[in-house]
Amino acid sequence: MAGRTVRIAPSILSADFARLAEEVARVEDAGADWLHIDVMDGHFVPNLTVGPPIVEALRKVTTLPLDVHLMMTNPDAFIGEFAEAGADYLTVHVETCPHLHRTVQSIKERGVKAGVTLNPATPAGTLSEIVRDADLILIMSVNPGFGGQKFIASSLHKIAEVRALIDRSGSRALLEVDGGVKPDNVKEILAAGAEVLVAGSAVFSTDDYTAAITALRAGHEPAARTARVATAHR
Ligand code: DX5
Ligand code: ZN
Repeated sequence: MAGRTVRIAPSILSADFARLAEEVARVEDAGADWLHIDVMDGHFVPNLTVGPPIVEALRKVTTLPLDVHLMMTNPDAFIGEFAEAGADYLTVHVETCPHLHRTVQSIKERGVKAGVTLNPATPAGTLSEIVRDADLILIMSVNPGFGGQKFIASSLHKIAEVRALIDRSGSRALLEVDGGVKPDNVKEILAAGAEVLVAGSAVFSTDDYTAAITALRAGHEPAARTARVATAHR
């Protein structure tokens, strides 16, 4: 965990959609590193959200990297549109991509970073042949579809397993976690090897976005620094 930069990616799923630009400006000012955009198709997941026009609109109002999570049965049909709209990362589910290698290549050919994600019941091993091609691996720590769900504790061992897979394969993929991330479980999530934290309700359901993002980041108190402080007090 030492030396790994932690990025906080607020998920707009829990934002006030009637004031989206304002909400995005607020999290940007509050220190967000990325903006996480949840695309749901009402088929792969039991909910409907936003599509390329919203990504395009947000691209015009923020300089934050747009981290677009495609919870769709047929992401291949929309990769071009999301790339055009200005996505920086496009993340697809292994469960919906029978030709995952082709999908990842088609994302990268458009100059977009390619992410691959797993549902909670999908084993880490399904990533072994794609991990070196991916720019981002996303571990779902809730069943996708809704914000505000409880973190599934068994996700921690999967995060650690995927961390080991990334490290031993020499992949440069970032490791992201999505679902139920709160200040009180961030330390464990980071200790397991994650470095990008998606947080919807933990940010947007509070009044003070700066405090919320700071609290999430505070989970990353580097061990070395703690040790130095302890020594100084002796
Ligand atoms: C769930 C989405 C998440 C969601 C996270 O399907 O992929 O990105 O917004 O929300 P919280 O942080 O509230 O669990
Ligand atoms: Zn998401």
